[in-house]
Amino acid sequence: MQTLDVALGERAYPIHIGAGLLAQVSLLLRHLPQKRVAVVTNTTIAPLYLDAFVATLAAGGVSAVPIVLPDGEETKDWTTLNAVFDALLAHRCERKTALVALGGGVIGDLTGFAAATYLRGVPYVQVPTTLLAQVDSSVGGKTAINHPRGKNMIGAFYQPLVVLADTDTLRTLDQREVAAGLAEVIKYGLIRDLPFFEWLERNIDALVARDAEKLAYAIERSCANKAAVVAADEREETGERALLNLGHTFGHAIETGLGYGNWLHGEAVAAGTVIAARVSQQMGFIGAGDVERIVRIFERARLPVTAPDLGHDRYRALMGLDKKVEGGKIRFILLRRLGEAFMTADVAPQTLETALTQSVTNA
Ligand SMILES: NC(=O)c1ccc[n+]([C@@H]2O[C@H](COP(=O)([O-])OP(=O)(O)OC[C@H]3O[C@@H](n4cnc5c(N)ncnc54)[C@H](O)[C@@H]3O)[C@@H](O)[C@H]2O)c1
Ligand SMILES: [Zn+2]
Repeated sequence: MQTLDVALGERAYPIHIGAGLLAQVSLLLRHLPQKRVAVVTNTTIAPLYLDAFVATLAAGGVSAVPIVLPDGEETKDWTTLNAVFDALLAHRCERKTALVALGGGVIGDLTGFAAATYLRGVPYVQVPTTLLAQVDSSVGGKTAINHPRGKNMIGAFYQPLVVLADTDTLRTLDQREVAAGLAEVIKYGLIRDLPFFEWLERNIDALVARDAEKLAYAIERSCANKAAVVAADEREETGERALLNLGHTFGHAIETGLGYGNWLHGEAVAAGTVIAARVSQQMGFIGAGDVERIVRIFERARLPVTAPDLGHDRYRALMGLDKKVEGGKIRFILLRRLGEAFMTADVAPQTLETALTQSVTNA
């Protein structure tokens, strides 16, 4: 097992990464304020992991209220959030009853937001079971639900007590979900860790094939990068944390434009990153060879590199709702070089047009 720390002063917490951690309940127990928790999960994950997890908690003297939600990105909404509140109230969950998010990013984001607001805030724990959640969404305290007009529009910054990433859970994941997680892994290399990007270029096939050792290394290195960024800019105030949004301005537009759940988040991020790379190339920061390396690694990860043709006007309208918009201007995350990202609002409309035209299917 590897343990990393998210250095946030009094809100600091450990990330444990390793095989078989779901059975090592002592890693959770020491953080719980009460020997009772509510485990929030969904109908896909429950039959795989819920009973064994609840039994291990019981063996450690902790009773668990299971809350099993429907599955899908389109359920990351008010209706499902309310179902969580209904269950918490029905079971008389208290201020010290921690919520445990057992699942992917959808469960993690929803549960985190429920924890941030139930009784004005209760403790919560992340037990991520997808690659994407283990490398990204379970770390850093961004919690949210979607609004029909935009992704993650309603939420809170709210840090968990501990993150427990059991790499064994990745064995039951669909291949498409493994690829989606790799999109965020590649993102860390592109924005701030060129040696990691180069390691990924050498090892991407092994990662796609779920080589356990290499996956564990990729998760650790991703979490180390994310933890460093979050510690430096917890609430996305200095601009550093915003760099984690590489590919997301376009990606969120794709997800919202196509309807939640059609493209996976990681798939939209991959295609969005290619657009951001083309804008960066148009503006003279990176070369055609760099764009080619980015396209190539996503292709090898079995991720889409062309974006759906929503129409340029629709892209612009959707991106106008991005959370990074300031003073009405869209701010883009671009690449100064491979391994270094920056944020700018200065992208000429023609540059954007050209990059979109090059990047969409049926253009
Ligand atoms: N909070 C953040 O910082 C942050 C960062 C990145 C992404 N996100 C959010 O995360 C979400 C995407 O997360 P995701 O990719 O984990 O999707 P997801 O939560 O929808 O999980 C993907 C699918 O895998 C299933 N699943 C989960 N674990 C499984 C397992 N071990 N075995 C088999 N099936 C399993 C799920 O039920 C679901 O059908 C998006 O809503 C995105 O906005 C948040
Ligand atoms: Zn993301």
